[in-house]
Amino acid sequence: MRMKSLLRRAYPLLPLLQIDKPCLAIPLATALHEGGLNVLEVALRTPQALAALTAIRKALPQLCVGVGSLTLPAQFQQAMDAGAQFAVSPGFTRKLADAAADCGLPWLPGVMTPSEILGAQQAGFSCLKLFPALTGGALQSLLAVFPDLQFCPTGGIKATDLADLLALANVPCVGGSWVCPPDLIRSGDFAQIRKRALEACALAG
Ligand code: 3PG
Repeated sequence: MRMKSLLRRAYPLLPLLQIDKPCLAIPLATALHEGGLNVLEVALRTPQALAALTAIRKALPQLCVGVGSLTLPAQFQQAMDAGAQFAVSPGFTRKLADAAADCGLPWLPGVMTPSEILGAQQAGFSCLKLFPALTGGALQSLLAVFPDLQFCPTGGIKATDLADLLALANVPCVGGSWVCPPDLIRSGDFAQIRKRALEACALAG
């Protein structure tokens, strides 16, 4: 799936999952899916991340599951081998772009400044993660200069930011972990996670 369609499918939220116990992966993904979310990002921040992703892909093939926090070129092939359908990085480098192209995995690179946006655009990317997220006003300014680019703002976003950000024409979805922060995942409070996902979908309308 191309990144533009993938971000549209993730509407309103691409949740970031930090999983440190593989047995939590399937109940977590199930709660998010029941809460209305269809695309999940498993952060490569724990040694169990890839095993968790593989387990989710097998148990819930209707979901689209990728890796997040990808910072090393070699991680593209590892993610692909684990069954990842896309990858997200906090930044953009030529080496990462080459590795993404080599393995063919759809990639959402991260940018923060207009110069970084130009670099990614010139390398052929039209969907970018805006990290850390900017305010709606700043995104509006980017829309004026980069009308053809789509941004997924991520980092510090809360439920109350959703409506403003999603109202912007250059924001197909937002990213974040507030619906499933690591403490809620660890405590196995999937009812609360499902509720937060439902709330996010309701707030987005
Ligand atoms: C990311 O890598 O996408 C961010 O760390 C997520 O940010 P959040 O945890 O503040 O939502």
